[in-house]
Amino acid sequence: MAIIKGIQAGITGTGKYIPERIMTNADFEKITDTTDAWITERTGIKERHFAAADENCCDMAAKAGLAALADAGLSPDDTDAVILSTNSPDSIIPCSAAKVQGMIGASGAGAFDVISGCTGSLTAMLAAISGVSCGLWKNALVIGAEKFHDIIDWDDRSTSVLFGDGAGACVISRSEEGKGRFVSGRIEADGEKHGLITAGLGGKEDKLDMKGQDVFRFVNSKLPPFVEDFCRDSGTAPRDIDFWVIHQANMRITESLFKRLDIPLDRTLPNLDRYGNTSSASLLINLEEAMTAGRVRPGEKTAFVAFGAGMTLGALLYAA
Ligand code: UT7
Repeated sequence: MAIIKGIQAGITGTGKYIPERIMTNADFEKITDTTDAWITERTGIKERHFAAADENCCDMAAKAGLAALADAGLSPDDTDAVILSTNSPDSIIPCSAAKVQGMIGASGAGAFDVISGCTGSLTAMLAAISGVSCGLWKNALVIGAEKFHDIIDWDDRSTSVLFGDGAGACVISRSEEGKGRFVSGRIEADGEKHGLITAGLGGKEDKLDMKGQDVFRFVNSKLPPFVEDFCRDSGTAPRDIDFWVIHQANMRITESLFKRLDIPLDRTLPNLDRYGNTSSASLLINLEEAMTAGRVRPGEKTAFVAFGAGMTLGALLYAA
């Protein structure tokens, strides 16, 4: 089951916020036993941005959220729900979405966080689509924001070079006949693999720990059949999708997925080289850049694909 029924839900605005501070691979060479060549060849990453010391997840989320609302031509008051996907919230209590709701002045809107690894923003989009499609909400603001700087284990070269900070956002609203709409969606989890990517609260285990090779193997074996099944259940085939918005984890993962599904690589717009892996912000940053570049075109199909801690997988199909 993948097809979305009910009132049409579409994307009416997108936004992003990328913090100023840049850390290049050359900067990493000075503090870690690594090389620009290793990072580039194994991941496709050249540089990543990090938030300022006094800049938190909610600060970045609020900026991306306001940009998406402005792009949609909406005021914060028009928002029925603020849904924030993050794995690096300012706090657990209160939820960071409520803080962002207050910061942007979306008075009256409901607010909740989604924590689902790098699949979180796709999951948050699915929650927004569900709320709009069932008639509960008119406009839902979905934000993915991460401040990974503070949870990175800087002594672990196999993970420290991968991640970056940032925020992306989109507004999902009721849409009219003939306008863009979400056609189908699916999320899946393999909880037996929950130990592959972890970060706790307090103590030594609060830092990010990832069994990189195992994650790589899991994603490469599970993602292609997951996407194929999803497309089939959505009444289409991977080759017939015009554009792909994909979680930016590793360029080798994107290339391997596209090769397996026989999709030309120019049907996606990678930005891993500039931002690294921004976890659950990455899908929405990628969406904003695709929209700005005019790659989500009327009459065409766009697929969203995400994967991450849990292990979790997710896909959405959008017809513009
Ligand atoms: O977003 C959530 C989902 N996350 C992912 O999808 C991440 C999936 N995993 C990956 O992207 C890759 O596994 C990594 C990029 C994390 C690692 O790449 P790899 O090709 O799997 O490398 P590896 O772990 O097999 O390590 C190969 C070698 C090792 O050295 P030896 O044992 O062969 O001597 C590592 O110690 O590379 C070494 N290495 C490094 N060398 C230089 C590991 N990290 C580094 C580094 N610089 N930063």
